[in-house]
Amino acid sequence: MAGFLISPALGYLQTHSERGNSRRFAAVIIVAASCLCLSALALLTSYFCPIQRKSIDLCRTPSYPYSKADDSRLLATSVGGSVSPQNVITATNLSHVVFGIAASSELWEKRKEYLKLWWKPKKMRGFVWLEKKVRYTEEDAKTLPPQMLSADTMRFKYTSRLGRRSGIRISRIVSEMYRLGLPDVRWFVMSDDDTIFVAKNLLRVLSKYDHKQFYYIGSNSESHMQNLAFSYNMAYGGGGFAISYPLAKALSSMQDDCLHRYPSLVGSDDRIHACMAELGVPLTKEPGFHQYDIRGNALGLLAAHPLTPAISLHHLDAINPVFPNRTTLEALNHLQRSIDEDPTHFLQQSICYEKDRIWSISISWGYVVQIFRGVIEPRELEVPLRTFYSWNRKADFTTFAFNARAYPRHPCERPTLFYMHNITTSSRQERPRVESFYIRDAATSSPCPWTMPSPTSIDLIKVSRHKDENMWNKAPRRKCCHVLKKRTPKGTVSSFLEIDIHDCSSSEIATL
Ligand SMILES: *[C@@H]1O[C@H](CO)[C@@H](O)[C@H](O)[C@H]1NC(C)=O
Ligand SMILES: *[C@@H]1O[C@H](CO)[C@@H](O)[C@H](O)[C@H]1NC(C)=O
Ligand SMILES: *[C@@H]1O[C@H](CO)[C@@H](O)[C@H](O)[C@H]1NC(C)=O
Repeated sequence: MAGFLISPALGYLQTHSERGNSRRFAAVIIVAASCLCLSALALLTSYFCPIQRKSIDLCRTPSYPYSKADDSRLLATSVGGSVSPQNVITATNLSHVVFGIAASSELWEKRKEYLKLWWKPKKMRGFVWLEKKVRYTEEDAKTLPPQMLSADTMRFKYTSRLGRRSGIRISRIVSEMYRLGLPDVRWFVMSDDDTIFVAKNLLRVLSKYDHKQFYYIGSNSESHMQNLAFSYNMAYGGGGFAISYPLAKALSSMQDDCLHRYPSLVGSDDRIHACMAELGVPLTKEPGFHQYDIRGNALGLLAAHPLTPAISLHHLDAINPVFPNRTTLEALNHLQRSIDEDPTHFLQQSICYEKDRIWSISISWGYVVQIFRGVIEPRELEVPLRTFYSWNRKADFTTFAFNARAYPRHPCERPTLFYMHNITTSSRQERPRVESFYIRDAATSSPCPWTMPSPTSIDLIKVSRHKDENMWNKAPRRKCCHVLKKRTPKGTVSSFLEIDIHDCSSSEIATL
């Protein structure tokens, strides 16, 4: 094969180089070509080997099957053969998770409101870790996790000029929680006080992994610069991360020594990462954890979520309110209605086209519907619009760690936005159906001179779909949607659009 590759090149050389030199040249070329072939071979093997290794790992991990809905029944894990009591692993539920929320007494009064959005006092276990006791009102005591005072960390050196020494205290939360000796813990989940969780999706993702092994699960920053400065192998603390029980045990036995070795690190999550690296445990990336190292309008990201359960949202103070005409807290309260009603499908994208008026429609379930004039292909609609700035307040697209596309300058190319108005589940039918209404945001539609039908003629959109608790147990595939045809009296144009979301049939595609 090598000879076949080389000879045409040699023929070319012989006709184009001087005769005397050609033989020496040919020898050089043959050596160079064989080197090339060898390195290509090496490249090829290194390309295929990780894949093989990965598939072996996948086979080895004893992952137990999901159950439908609320995973609370017993699941047998043995493959054929009798089930002995020791072999029965129950599905992971909320009671197996302990949350460690890193907070500061300074910001507490404001931040506690974010916690109240998602915290379920009787169902969740966890603590708010503070450097100083804060006052809990009677209502706080009923609605928030109990507070814990972090141990003193003055004996540790801190030399970073960028961060705060509270990073040491916060990184020790996992170890401190482990030492509480709580029963039946499978996962410790760390987060900040300005993070909200979609608990059901967190559980869904955690139960893919064997909690009896060492797992460090989280995600990166959206900022390429942050990931360069910290690491692409680090779980960002604000987006939250999970540490399996045995790993927390191992960490607790070495963390204090480990911390002494890294006085110059900036924060808490890079300190955790440093100790994980010493333990040899890599980050298992789950893209549903959202650090949201962005500023401004998060719309672009929230409207094009990757096809994976949405687990967390962070930096709720750094981004604009997620709905217009509302305060940050009001907007989050509103968003929480979607999370409560249908966490499984929360923020999942569907793409379809209005064939008569030639519009492209992108739905982010429970949040926003965008209508674009003309045809924009799915491969583009899947890419977040850059409605936000980078963490260091730049609009430069090279600073992001993901693909994003420019927000159009031309008013006709901009999407018309319809924000979630209400969302309810109707159980009139056999399978519960979730109905959500979206109302046009008049403030974001600027005048457009194009003569084609304008999406601004629509005021209200209804999107509905059947509940599908099983969707994450299947291979990922975007749900399909289509615009329902409605008869309107002659000469009138309806300002109402109705869209149905459904499982795609095997040959169904998103195109005009
Ligand atoms: C969670 O699982 C445990 C068994 O590990 C079970 O005893 C408990 O009832 C379950 N809790 C819920 C809320 O389903
Ligand atoms: C949701 O909003 C639409 C439009 O305002 C309204 O017609 C519908 O009754 C509302 N649904 C619920 C359950 O409130
Ligand atoms: C927000 O308020 C502006 C100005 O009153 C209005 O034009 C816009 O439609 C409102 N947006 C939503 C989503 O209600």
